Amino acid sequence: MEDRQIRSHQRVAEVGEVFTAEREVNAMLDLVKQETERIDSRFLEPACGNGNFLVEILRRKLEVIRRQYQKQTSELELQTTIALSSIYGVDIMKDNVEECCQRLFDIVCSWYSEVHPQQKSPSQKLMDVWSYILHRNILWGDALTLREPVGADATAIEKNSAQPITFSEWSFIRDMVIRKDFHLAALVQAQSASVPFVKNDQGNEVFLPPEPIREYRPILYMKIPTYYDTKQ
Ligand SMILES: C[S@@+](CC[C@H](N)C(=O)[O-])C[C@H]1O[C@@H](n2cnc3c(N)ncnc32)[C@H](O)[C@@H]1O
Repeated sequence: MEDRQIRSHQRVAEVGEVFTAEREVNAMLDLVKQETERIDSRFLEPACGNGNFLVEILRRKLEVIRRQYQKQTSELELQTTIALSSIYGVDIMKDNVEECCQRLFDIVCSWYSEVHPQQKSPSQKLMDVWSYILHRNILWGDALTLREPVGADATAIEKNSAQPITFSEWSFIRDMVIRKDFHLAALVQAQSASVPFVKNDQGNEVFLPPEPIREYRPILYMKIPTYYDTKQ
């Protein structure tokens, strides 16, 4: 699938679905090379398709992790989780969202086995953490309305009552994580309101985020699936 750029002419006509080839993906990512090689650098692709850009960003981050942490398993696991948690995508086609999630998951799992001597697989608990984060970060949504998609024949009421796209921000302090949920619409609005960016005490430009719609208490990152499932 990765090398096929078109699934059907109908989908090209309906949602402009033409996937970007690997060579172009890499050329474009090279324009922000430093960011793609920063483990915790956040990327959001608002029409991510089946993930051609996101998988390459993940591969680049994993290469940095391999170089720096190959011999320290617990640090490597933490850094890999941070890398995954900083990758976000939205697509209007549900099958693209599912495929994108699965590709990212498969890449991180097989990479983990490759970097470990004796091809050790990640533990089930760690895979559950990765899977949970991916399903919170790669979302089915309409990047124009910033809500869950509704059919073309939806009424105005149905359109207005569609759920807003809600992303989770994951902030790590060692192996503790704080999750904050934001409506994508509020993030977009805050970003346009703070351009040019505000400067912090060090003179660096920073983005002032809006208020989260929900903030959770810090937990050990390995508890992500069990803790949030009971708190949603
Ligand atoms: C040109 S393809 C690009 C896919 C991917 N970014 C890539 O480069 O391989 C456009 C993608 O946008 C998605 N799309 C179209 N309209 C959208 C919308 N309103 N919101 C979110 N995604 C949308 C399509 O489903 C398709 O996957």
